[in-house]
Amino acid sequence: MDPRPLFRVATAGSVDDGKSTFIGRLLAESNAIFEDHWEALVRASRATGEEQTNLALLTDGLRAEREQKITIDVAYRTFATARRRYLLADTPGHARYTRNMFTGASTAEAVILLLDAERGPTRQTYLHAFIASLLAVPHVLVAVNKMDLVGYSREVFEARAEEFRAGVHGMEFGDLRFLPVSAVEGEGIVSYRGTMPWFHGPSVLQTLDDLEPAAKPFFFRFPVQGVVRPGPGLRGLMGEACSGAIRVGEAVQVLPTGETTSVVEILSPDGPVESCAVGDPAIVVLADDLDVGRGAILVRPKNPATVAHSAEAMVVWMSEDPARLRAPYRLLSGTASALGNIDEIAYRVAPDTLHREATESLELNDVSKVRLRLADPLCLDVYRSDRTTGSFELLSVESGEVMAAGVVLRVPALEPEARSERGLCVWMTGLSGAGKSTLSDLTTARLRAAGLPVVQLDGDALRAGLNRDLGFSESDRTENIRRTAEVARLLASQGVVVICSLISPMRSQRELAAEIVGEAWFEVFVDCPIDVAEARDVKGLYARARRGEIPEFTGVSAPYEAPMSPDVRLDTSATEPQAAARTLADAVKLRILGAQP
Ligand code: ADX
Repeated sequence: MDPRPLFRVATAGSVDDGKSTFIGRLLAESNAIFEDHWEALVRASRATGEEQTNLALLTDGLRAEREQKITIDVAYRTFATARRRYLLADTPGHARYTRNMFTGASTAEAVILLLDAERGPTRQTYLHAFIASLLAVPHVLVAVNKMDLVGYSREVFEARAEEFRAGVHGMEFGDLRFLPVSAVEGEGIVSYRGTMPWFHGPSVLQTLDDLEPAAKPFFFRFPVQGVVRPGPGLRGLMGEACSGAIRVGEAVQVLPTGETTSVVEILSPDGPVESCAVGDPAIVVLADDLDVGRGAILVRPKNPATVAHSAEAMVVWMSEDPARLRAPYRLLSGTASALGNIDEIAYRVAPDTLHREATESLELNDVSKVRLRLADPLCLDVYRSDRTTGSFELLSVESGEVMAAGVVLRVPALEPEARSERGLCVWMTGLSGAGKSTLSDLTTARLRAAGLPVVQLDGDALRAGLNRDLGFSESDRTENIRRTAEVARLLASQGVVVICSLISPMRSQRELAAEIVGEAWFEVFVDCPIDVAEARDVKGLYARARRGEIPEFTGVSAPYEAPMSPDVRLDTSATEPQAAARTLADAVKLRILGAQP
């Protein structure tokens, strides 16, 4: 393996600012072009009758290939110097590729922003500068290109730099530099050959080589990719720290659950090691066999990430389908994911003026500030303190397509009053043996894992105590349902998710319950053909009912009216219990979020 460190760079700038030629020149002059590519290029240039080898052909050729498919991918190139290896994200300059620029720059240590010396900065130049500042890219090099076309004039260079500075007024840059270059003539890319004696600065490549990589944040963050079992009773967490380091013996906290334990062993691909740091693939073995899986994050108890239920973020919309307020999306950050929605769009950044505009929806390439609400707790950091745990993607719940990428600006602590709005009465109706209780247990576990307070009210359990005085006549059932609905209403009004499992056979009975419960009502039809429920006959009641030993038995000697329009219908004869529970838990979380599917 090449021991030289990897340095990530992204290019940006308007369409005609000469980016392809610039990149071609950078690659060619740093000897990164593979021989065969180079020869093909020379041949292609000869075929078009050009004197000089057309460097733009190289990058444009590759890009044309890429643009055939609709993709948010960015073309990555590598080149190297004696000091380090470079990974260059080449992002197209057109406005319809703003999202690509965002992706390319989000991991970059430096952005090379091309600016046409003759034409000056454009809207696109400023938009890209804005994104670089938003993404806190540590270094921004403004390469004032095409200096040959302005007679290598110092005045023009300085005027362009001044103009740019004025245009980005108010944006924050850690480090902003200007370099006069001519990609076509090869001036200033690797070296200066005397055309601009007034410029004493190092070339683009020398500048890159001299940049110090930004100090990695100190806080330990280890997103868990998977679980392995290196020995009996041992749980090994596979992953890679995205910042900081940890040693054997140190205390760690598992988020989002919050349990604390310690590291007993760290395994690298080459065997046991004493510590692991950023970028080292490792298996971390914990002292306790905690229930940790993919999506959890290991941190130090003293500097935890925030377990977020909401976040303020800047996003760039990446899909042709516009964003819908309160529609459900899956938020992916590192290895963790959560259901959530865009609760509010604070503003959209107008691409031509960079002014803030009010909007109700987001279109492709819109950059905007939003508030996200999450149905599952998710560990997040503010982007400026950690670029991995501070960034995320929004995916379509149905197709998994990437809809947006974003960076976290602020993670508010969970407001206590937010809890009280979250109560819900999940009313499960269905035949005896349809699977209501099983579904209730599995769904309860899932919702509790998402941090929600859940209480189960089961028909059999209620009838053993609270409703001991009631039988199965229609009026007794109605009373059974009425009492249960009253209890559910009280609990839901205090922020509890109540899961009621009652046959509740008649529509009129469920209407009564719905009326009692009010806004928090959420009806689930646990559907199952009677022959399947009867074949299961867990309690042997169907057999007894058929023998005439139980009068008024629902489905046999008493009616069951299926709901006309339940919030959720689950067919337990056709769905695995865990799959049905996941569907139901997700539906409940989305309803609590106020998401409109
Ligand atoms: S409800 O009709 O009043 O909503 P509930 O869900 O509380 O019924 O109770 C149903 C449970 O009571 C069944 O799961 C079954 O175990 C038992 N049971 C006893 N007798 C009957 C009956 N006649 N009809 C239905 N369930 C009965």
